[in-house]
Amino acid sequence: MSYLEELVRKNRSYRGYDESVSVTSEQLYRLLSCVRLTPSSTNLQPLKFLVTNTPEENAKIFPYTKWAGKLSHLHLPYEGHRPTAYVVIFIDRTIAQNPTPFLKDVGIAAQTLLLGAVEQGLGGIMIGSFDHDAILKEFSLPDTLQPELVVALGKPDETIVLEDAEGGEVSYYRDAQDVHHVPKRLLEELILNLKEINK
Ligand SMILES: Cc1cc2nc3c(=O)[nH]c(=O)nc-3n(C[C@H](O)[C@H](O)[C@H](O)COP(=O)(O)O)c2cc1C
Repeated sequence: MSYLEELVRKNRSYRGYDESVSVTSEQLYRLLSCVRLTPSSTNLQPLKFLVTNTPEENAKIFPYTKWAGKLSHLHLPYEGHRPTAYVVIFIDRTIAQNPTPFLKDVGIAAQTLLLGAVEQGLGGIMIGSFDHDAILKEFSLPDTLQPELVVALGKPDETIVLEDAEGGEVSYYRDAQDVHHVPKRLLEELILNLKEINK
């Protein structure tokens, strides 16, 4: 298996962390140094990043994030297993008046951050479901900063397994041992078969 495939396989959406392991400012700085070099539509680079890694700052973000909508009865992450750092990604509207093309930049930045985190023995998750206004308010930020994505980070302490999706069923689930299962569609389903489509 290539190193890239190894990283991509390990880079799951973790919803349980070892709170005794902090993510250092130096680690976050290294991750963002990589993110700085990623592609940007027309190279405008309008993204801004809010970085937190102290319990006080993290507590200003966690209550406004929504986790595992499909498993809401579990109230993930469990008490005492929350992320130990966050990177909130914004589009700076003073640089990009039309933010739409830069939503792709946000995805690229987030995935780069997460792959870098996995390489450092950490892990994380993208949280798109969060209270944008609350984040701006908690950190007294101007509304020219448009919050787009929260990336939560930490040392994962849960088991996630990938499996092949069968019969089009792609819902993630947890088994009785609290192992998280993530079905992925097969490659044959993803790659368009032009002969089949155009026959
Ligand atoms: C753009 C984006 C936004 C997401 N937002 C949330 C979210 O708000 N809450 C959550 O628990 N998971 C969120 N996820 C994680 C997905 O649920 C996860 O990617 C999916 O279940 C597949 O798991 P995997 O990342 O381990 O492959 C998000 C993922 C992406 C790509």
